[in-house]
Amino acid sequence: MRHFLKENDFSPEEVIKMFASAFDLKSGRSHRPTTDLAGQSWGMMFYKQSTRTRVSFEVGIRELGGNPLILDQSSTQIGRGESIADTAKVLSRFLDGLIIRAHGHDVIEEFARHASVPVVNALTDFLHPCQIYADCMTALEKLDAGTNPFEGLRDKKLAFFGDTSCNMANSWILAGAMFGIEISLCGPGSYQPGKAIVALLNDYNLDPTWSFSPDPEQSAQDADIVYTDVWVSMGCEDDRLGRLEAMKPYQVNDSVMSMAKKDCIFMHCMPAHPGEEVTQSVLDSKNAILFDQAENRLHMQKAILSALSSLNSQ
Ligand code: CP
Repeated sequence: MRHFLKENDFSPEEVIKMFASAFDLKSGRSHRPTTDLAGQSWGMMFYKQSTRTRVSFEVGIRELGGNPLILDQSSTQIGRGESIADTAKVLSRFLDGLIIRAHGHDVIEEFARHASVPVVNALTDFLHPCQIYADCMTALEKLDAGTNPFEGLRDKKLAFFGDTSCNMANSWILAGAMFGIEISLCGPGSYQPGKAIVALLNDYNLDPTWSFSPDPEQSAQDADIVYTDVWVSMGCEDDRLGRLEAMKPYQVNDSVMSMAKKDCIFMHCMPAHPGEEVTQSVLDSKNAILFDQAENRLHMQKAILSALSSLNSQ
């Protein structure tokens, strides 16, 4: 069974095809019916809040001819302690696929171990692969760099500001190694990438393309893309004040953007907190492409689900 739990779960050939398909689905959305999930029912289990992921998957499944079911963990027996193994086996008898947002990455890995239908990672504390694929699509579009991320994103520089230990930083570290993007991480030394992402690159013989610097000027210099994420991720609320204090020097503001390339794009996976990780002025600038990123979640996830459905039927 093929799942999508992390960015490198697809082969390079599959990734190239999937990105081309996402661009194709986007350009043909209004006039071309797609039936890749016709007759299929996909469940979506959310252990955490979501706006973009939940709505884009629900609309995407419908646009592919399928039937989405929202399975809030608190209203299912899993919220009362039923095991993941039993839940995965039972849901596999009804559904054609499972999309899961959880805190621990081990939760979706356990679902995948016991499910006999594909499992898709809709965000864990470790990785957010659907977001990264859509972001790479958006970067290709905005940098006018074709549809192939291995060619179009190679040697681009992405400067990531703020919490460089978070899931988005991990996902960029992984995507950077896959596509040859230089990833310059900039934030407080106490929130650097953990051992798990380093081990993942090692496990798959992926050459690291990331570096860490506490100096915003050094990171932003010559950047094609400046990226940030919230300073207080879901589940980190207890450390809110400490995080806000530690990350204050790493806010993306006009000064940071002026150190990057002239046409540098500003990206953020949202929700954004103006005045914390980014200023309103940067969010309002022509460099900011947040809403295109959000829209591309729909097109890219349709391509991901179509690919999984096809690969698992071979
Ligand atoms: N970026 C993202 O995953 O948004 P949601 O939390 O709203 O799904």
